[in-house]
Amino acid sequence: MEGYVCIITGANSLTGIGRAAAYSFAKKNAKAIYVTDIMDSDLYTLAEDVKATTGVDCIGMKADASCDEDILAIINAAMDKYGRLDVFFANAGVAGRHPFVSQTKEAYMEMMSVNAWSAFAACKYASVAMQKTSEEKPVSGGAIICNASVGGVRSGGGPMSYSASKAAVINTCQTAAWRLHGTNIRVNSVCPGLIKTEMTDVVFAAIENRPELEQSLMRTIALERYGRPEEVSETVAFLASSAGSYITGQDIKVDGGISAAMPYSVFFGES
Ligand SMILES: NC(=O)c1ccc[n+]([C@@H]2O[C@H](COP(=O)([O-])OP(=O)(O)OC[C@H]3O[C@@H](n4cnc5c(N)ncnc54)[C@H](O)[C@@H]3O)[C@@H](O)[C@H]2O)c1
Repeated sequence: MEGYVCIITGANSLTGIGRAAAYSFAKKNAKAIYVTDIMDSDLYTLAEDVKATTGVDCIGMKADASCDEDILAIINAAMDKYGRLDVFFANAGVAGRHPFVSQTKEAYMEMMSVNAWSAFAACKYASVAMQKTSEEKPVSGGAIICNASVGGVRSGGGPMSYSASKAAVINTCQTAAWRLHGTNIRVNSVCPGLIKTEMTDVVFAAIENRPELEQSLMRTIALERYGRPEEVSETVAFLASSAGSYITGQDIKVDGGISAAMPYSVFFGES
Protein backbone atom coordinates (compact mmCIF):
# COMPACT_ATOMS: atom_id res chain seq x y z
CA MET A 1 0.00 0.00 0.00
CA GLU A 2 3.03 2.26 -0.34
CA GLY A 3 1.99 5.74 -1.48
CA TYR A 4 -1.71 5.00 -1.00
CA VAL A 5 -4.06 7.58 0.46
CA CYS A 6 -6.90 5.86 2.31
CA ILE A 7 -10.22 6.66 3.95
CA ILE A 8 -11.93 4.53 6.61
CA THR A 9 -15.46 5.19 7.90
CA GLY A 10 -16.74 3.98 11.28
CA ALA A 11 -13.34 4.05 13.00
CA ASN A 12 -14.25 5.54 16.40
CA SER A 13 -15.22 2.33 18.22
CA LEU A 14 -12.37 1.17 20.47
CA THR A 15 -13.04 -2.49 19.71
CA GLY A 16 -14.20 -2.06 16.12
CA ILE A 17 -13.09 -3.32 12.71
CA GLY A 18 -12.57 0.26 11.45
CA ARG A 19 -10.03 1.03 14.16
CA ALA A 20 -8.21 -2.26 13.50
CA ALA A 21 -8.13 -1.38 9.79
CA ALA A 22 -6.17 1.81 10.49
CA TYR A 23 -3.34 -0.28 11.99
CA SER A 24 -3.58 -2.92 9.23
CA PHE A 25 -3.26 -0.21 6.55
CA ALA A 26 -0.40 1.48 8.42
CA LYS A 27 1.45 -1.85 8.70
CA LYS A 28 1.34 -2.06 4.91
CA ASN A 29 3.01 1.37 4.67
CA ALA A 30 0.08 3.42 3.42
CA LYS A 31 1.00 7.08 2.87
CA ALA A 32 -1.98 8.60 4.71
CA ILE A 33 -5.10 7.31 6.44
CA TYR A 34 -8.23 9.36 7.15
CA VAL A 35 -10.07 7.80 10.10
CA THR A 36 -13.67 9.04 10.25
CA ASP A 37 -16.83 8.41 12.24
CA ILE A 38 -20.09 10.08 13.26
CA MET A 39 -18.75 9.87 16.85
CA ASP A 40 -15.37 11.40 17.64
CA SER A 41 -14.68 10.54 21.29
CA ASP A 42 -11.75 8.25 20.37
CA LEU A 43 -11.03 9.30 16.80
CA TYR A 44 -8.27 11.84 17.35
CA THR A 45 -6.38 9.69 19.86
CA LEU A 46 -6.53 6.87 17.30
CA ALA A 47 -5.03 9.18 14.67
CA GLU A 48 -2.29 10.27 17.08
CA ASP A 49 -1.48 6.70 18.08
CA VAL A 50 -1.26 5.43 14.50
CA LYS A 51 1.08 8.31 13.64
CA ALA A 52 3.18 7.81 16.78
CA THR A 53 3.50 4.02 16.51
CA THR A 54 3.87 3.62 12.74
CA GLY A 55 4.95 7.00 11.37
CA VAL A 56 2.09 6.96 8.86
CA ASP A 57 0.09 10.20 8.45
CA CYS A 58 -3.27 9.64 10.13
CA ILE A 59 -6.00 12.26 10.27
CA GLY A 60 -9.23 12.12 12.29
CA MET A 61 -12.38 13.65 10.79
CA LYS A 62 -15.90 13.61 12.20
CA ALA A 63 -18.26 12.51 9.41
CA ASP A 64 -21.58 10.78 8.92
CA ALA A 65 -20.93 7.99 6.40
CA SER A 66 -24.49 8.22 5.08
CA CYS A 67 -24.30 11.99 4.43
CA ASP A 68 -23.16 12.96 0.93
CA GLU A 69 -21.71 16.30 2.04
CA ASP A 70 -19.65 14.64 4.78
CA ILE A 71 -18.28 11.97 2.44
CA LEU A 72 -17.37 14.60 -0.13
CA ALA A 73 -15.69 16.70 2.58
CA ILE A 74 -13.37 13.83 3.53
CA ILE A 75 -12.56 13.02 -0.09
CA ASN A 76 -11.91 16.70 -0.86
CA ALA A 77 -9.64 17.00 2.19
CA ALA A 78 -7.60 14.00 0.99
CA MET A 79 -7.45 15.31 -2.60
CA ASP A 80 -6.47 18.84 -1.49
CA LYS A 81 -3.67 17.60 0.77
CA TYR A 82 -2.32 14.59 -1.11
CA GLY A 83 -3.75 14.94 -4.64
CA ARG A 84 -4.89 11.34 -4.80
CA LEU A 85 -7.26 8.75 -3.37
CA ASP A 86 -6.44 5.07 -3.54
CA VAL A 87 -8.48 3.21 -0.92
CA PHE A 88 -11.96 3.69 0.56
CA PHE A 89 -13.06 1.28 3.30
CA ALA A 90 -16.80 1.85 3.79
CA ASN A 91 -17.00 0.20 7.18
CA ALA A 92 -19.56 2.24 9.17
CA GLY A 93 -22.69 0.35 10.08
CA VAL A 94 -25.41 -0.15 12.65
CA ALA A 95 -27.36 -3.21 13.75
CA GLY A 96 -30.94 -2.60 14.88
CA ARG A 97 -32.87 -5.37 16.55
CA HIS A 98 -36.49 -4.50 15.72
CA PRO A 99 -38.83 -7.50 15.76
CA PHE A 100 -40.02 -8.22 12.20
CA VAL A 101 -43.71 -7.59 12.86
CA SER A 102 -43.22 -4.27 14.65
CA GLN A 103 -40.60 -2.90 12.25
CA THR A 104 -41.46 0.59 11.02
CA LYS A 105 -40.72 1.99 7.60
CA GLU A 106 -38.77 4.84 9.22
CA ALA A 107 -36.45 2.46 11.10
CA TYR A 108 -36.02 0.29 8.00
CA MET A 109 -35.13 3.30 5.83
CA GLU A 110 -32.70 4.58 8.46
CA MET A 111 -30.96 1.18 8.43
CA MET A 112 -30.78 1.28 4.63
CA SER A 113 -29.42 4.82 4.75
CA VAL A 114 -26.60 4.13 7.21
CA ASN A 115 -25.63 0.65 5.97
CA ALA A 116 -26.50 0.59 2.28
CA TRP A 117 -26.46 4.21 1.06
CA SER A 118 -23.09 4.73 2.77
CA ALA A 119 -21.64 1.93 0.62
CA PHE A 120 -23.33 3.27 -2.53
CA ALA A 121 -22.10 6.80 -1.81
CA ALA A 122 -18.57 5.50 -1.18
CA CYS A 123 -18.56 3.89 -4.63
CA LYS A 124 -20.15 6.93 -6.27
CA TYR A 125 -17.84 9.61 -4.87
CA ALA A 126 -14.59 7.72 -4.22
CA SER A 127 -14.49 6.33 -7.76
CA VAL A 128 -14.43 9.85 -9.24
CA ALA A 129 -11.45 10.85 -7.06
CA MET A 130 -9.66 7.55 -7.76
CA GLN A 131 -9.71 8.30 -11.49
CA LYS A 132 -7.78 11.57 -11.05
CA THR A 133 -4.26 11.16 -12.37
CA SER A 134 -1.11 13.19 -11.78
CA GLU A 135 2.64 12.95 -12.18
CA GLU A 136 2.77 10.93 -8.97
CA LYS A 137 -0.22 8.74 -9.94
CA PRO A 138 -0.06 8.40 -13.73
CA VAL A 139 -2.78 5.73 -14.00
CA SER A 140 -6.37 5.76 -12.74
CA GLY A 141 -7.07 3.19 -10.03
CA GLY A 142 -8.02 2.28 -6.51
CA ALA A 143 -9.76 -0.17 -4.22
CA ILE A 144 -13.15 0.24 -2.59
CA ILE A 145 -14.03 -2.26 0.11
CA CYS A 146 -17.42 -2.23 1.80
CA ASN A 147 -18.18 -4.02 5.04
CA ALA A 148 -21.20 -6.24 4.45
CA SER A 149 -21.99 -9.33 6.57
CA VAL A 150 -22.78 -13.02 6.32
CA GLY A 151 -26.26 -11.76 7.20
CA GLY A 152 -26.43 -10.33 3.68
CA VAL A 153 -25.62 -13.65 2.06
CA ARG A 154 -28.63 -15.63 3.26
CA SER A 155 -31.05 -15.85 6.15
CA GLY A 156 -29.99 -16.53 9.71
CA GLY A 157 -27.05 -14.16 10.12
CA GLY A 158 -28.74 -11.11 11.60
CA PRO A 159 -31.95 -9.11 12.08
CA MET A 160 -34.15 -8.81 8.99
CA SER A 161 -33.64 -5.17 7.99
CA TYR A 162 -29.91 -5.40 8.82
CA SER A 163 -29.59 -8.45 6.57
CA ALA A 164 -31.47 -6.71 3.75
CA SER A 165 -29.17 -3.70 4.01
CA LYS A 166 -26.08 -5.93 3.87
CA ALA A 167 -27.44 -7.83 0.84
CA ALA A 168 -27.67 -4.42 -0.82
CA VAL A 169 -24.03 -3.74 0.09
CA ILE A 170 -22.90 -7.02 -1.50
CA ASN A 171 -24.76 -6.32 -4.74
CA THR A 172 -23.67 -2.68 -4.83
CA CYS A 173 -20.05 -3.87 -4.82
CA GLN A 174 -20.68 -6.48 -7.53
CA THR A 175 -22.49 -3.97 -9.71
CA ALA A 176 -20.05 -1.11 -9.09
CA ALA A 177 -17.13 -3.36 -10.05
CA TRP A 178 -18.77 -3.67 -13.48
CA ARG A 179 -19.96 -0.06 -13.76
CA LEU A 180 -16.32 0.91 -13.20
CA HIS A 181 -14.87 -1.53 -15.73
CA GLY A 182 -11.80 -0.21 -17.46
CA THR A 183 -10.99 2.28 -14.69
CA ASN A 184 -8.64 -0.01 -12.72
CA ILE A 185 -10.84 0.50 -9.66
CA ARG A 186 -11.63 -2.70 -7.81
CA VAL A 187 -14.74 -2.99 -5.65
CA ASN A 188 -15.25 -5.83 -3.17
CA SER A 189 -17.20 -6.48 -0.01
CA VAL A 190 -16.12 -8.39 3.07
CA CYS A 191 -18.69 -10.49 4.92
CA PRO A 192 -17.67 -10.97 8.54
CA GLY A 193 -19.29 -13.62 10.71
CA LEU A 194 -19.38 -13.23 14.50
CA ILE A 195 -16.66 -10.73 15.43
CA LYS A 196 -16.17 -9.47 19.00
CA THR A 197 -16.76 -5.71 18.78
CA GLU A 198 -19.05 -3.14 20.35
CA MET A 199 -21.74 -4.14 17.86
CA THR A 200 -21.87 -7.71 19.19
CA ASP A 201 -21.62 -6.82 22.91
CA VAL A 202 -25.26 -7.84 23.20
CA VAL A 203 -24.50 -11.34 21.86
CA PHE A 204 -21.59 -11.85 24.24
CA ALA A 205 -23.62 -10.53 27.18
CA ALA A 206 -26.34 -13.09 26.36
CA ILE A 207 -23.93 -16.06 26.47
CA GLU A 208 -21.95 -14.90 29.50
CA ASN A 209 -22.11 -17.55 32.26
CA ARG A 210 -24.26 -19.73 30.01
CA PRO A 211 -21.80 -22.36 28.73
CA GLU A 212 -24.43 -24.48 26.98
CA LEU A 213 -25.72 -21.51 25.01
CA GLU A 214 -22.17 -20.45 24.19
CA GLN A 215 -21.30 -23.96 23.03
CA SER A 216 -24.35 -24.22 20.78
CA LEU A 217 -23.49 -20.82 19.25
CA MET A 218 -19.87 -21.80 18.67
CA ARG A 219 -21.00 -25.08 17.05
CA THR A 220 -22.47 -22.99 14.20
CA ILE A 221 -18.92 -21.84 13.39
CA ALA A 222 -16.55 -24.37 11.78
CA LEU A 223 -13.61 -22.93 13.73
CA GLU A 224 -15.76 -23.02 16.91
CA ARG A 225 -14.72 -19.54 18.01
CA TYR A 226 -15.62 -15.94 17.33
CA GLY A 227 -13.37 -13.74 15.20
CA ARG A 228 -11.21 -10.76 16.18
CA PRO A 229 -11.49 -7.36 14.42
CA GLU A 230 -7.92 -7.77 13.15
CA GLU A 231 -8.89 -10.94 11.31
CA VAL A 232 -11.30 -8.87 9.22
CA SER A 233 -9.08 -5.80 8.86
CA GLU A 234 -6.12 -7.85 7.62
CA THR A 235 -8.36 -9.24 4.86
CA VAL A 236 -9.48 -5.70 4.01
CA ALA A 237 -5.83 -4.56 3.84
CA PHE A 238 -5.04 -7.48 1.54
CA LEU A 239 -7.90 -6.50 -0.78
CA ALA A 240 -6.81 -2.84 -0.64
CA SER A 241 -3.19 -3.62 -1.44
CA SER A 242 -1.47 -4.60 -4.66
CA ALA A 243 -1.60 -8.21 -3.40
CA GLY A 244 -5.31 -8.19 -4.21
CA SER A 245 -4.80 -6.69 -7.67
CA TYR A 246 -6.89 -9.26 -9.61
CA ILE A 247 -9.85 -9.44 -7.21
CA THR A 248 -12.95 -7.40 -7.97
CA GLY A 249 -16.71 -7.80 -7.67
CA GLN A 250 -16.36 -10.40 -4.91
CA ASP A 251 -17.92 -10.87 -1.49
CA ILE A 252 -15.17 -12.31 0.69
CA LYS A 253 -16.44 -14.25 3.71
CA VAL A 254 -14.39 -13.81 6.89
CA ASP A 255 -16.58 -15.94 9.09
CA GLY A 256 -14.81 -19.00 10.46
CA GLY A 257 -16.80 -21.11 8.03
CA ILE A 258 -20.36 -20.13 9.05
CA SER A 259 -21.56 -19.49 5.50
CA ALA A 260 -20.01 -22.68 4.11
CA ALA A 261 -22.62 -25.00 5.61
CA MET A 262 -26.28 -25.74 5.98
CA PRO A 263 -27.11 -25.74 9.71
CA TYR A 264 -24.52 -28.07 11.24
CA SER A 265 -25.79 -31.54 12.02
CA VAL A 266 -24.04 -34.03 14.34
CA PHE A 267 -25.68 -36.80 12.29
CA PHE A 268 -23.50 -35.97 9.26
CA GLY A 269 -20.65 -34.54 11.27
CA GLU A 270 -18.69 -37.79 11.54
CA SER A 271 -19.18 -39.14 8.01
N1 LIG B 1 -19.05 -7.36 14.64
C1 LIG B 1 -19.58 -8.26 13.82
O1 LIG B 1 -19.80 -9.43 14.20
C2 LIG B 1 -19.91 -7.89 12.41
C3 LIG B 1 -20.38 -8.90 11.56
C4 LIG B 1 -20.70 -8.60 10.26
C5 LIG B 1 -20.56 -7.30 9.78
N2 LIG B 1 -20.11 -6.32 10.62
C6 LIG B 1 -20.00 -4.97 10.08
O2 LIG B 1 -18.74 -4.42 10.38
C7 LIG B 1 -18.82 -2.99 10.38
C8 LIG B 1 -18.09 -2.45 11.59
O3 LIG B 1 -18.79 -2.86 12.75
P1 LIG B 1 -18.07 -3.27 14.11
O4 LIG B 1 -18.39 -4.68 14.38
O5 LIG B 1 -16.66 -2.82 14.10
O6 LIG B 1 -18.99 -2.43 15.12
P2 LIG B 1 -18.69 -1.16 16.06
O7 LIG B 1 -20.01 -0.83 16.61
O8 LIG B 1 -17.56 -1.48 16.96
O9 LIG B 1 -18.23 -0.02 15.02
C9 LIG B 1 -19.14 0.60 14.15
C10 LIG B 1 -18.72 2.05 14.02
O10 LIG B 1 -19.57 2.67 13.03
C11 LIG B 1 -19.86 3.98 13.51
N3 LIG B 1 -21.05 4.51 12.84
C12 LIG B 1 -22.34 4.17 13.01
N4 LIG B 1 -23.12 4.93 12.22
C13 LIG B 1 -22.31 5.75 11.53
C14 LIG B 1 -22.52 6.75 10.54
N5 LIG B 1 -23.75 7.07 10.11
N6 LIG B 1 -21.44 7.40 10.05
C15 LIG B 1 -20.19 7.10 10.48
N7 LIG B 1 -19.93 6.17 11.40
C16 LIG B 1 -20.98 5.50 11.91
C17 LIG B 1 -20.04 3.82 14.99
O11 LIG B 1 -19.93 5.05 15.68
C18 LIG B 1 -18.91 2.85 15.31
O12 LIG B 1 -17.71 3.51 15.65
C19 LIG B 1 -20.32 -2.66 10.34
O13 LIG B 1 -20.71 -2.27 9.03
C20 LIG B 1 -20.98 -3.99 10.69
O14 LIG B 1 -22.27 -4.12 10.17
C21 LIG B 1 -19.78 -6.59 11.92
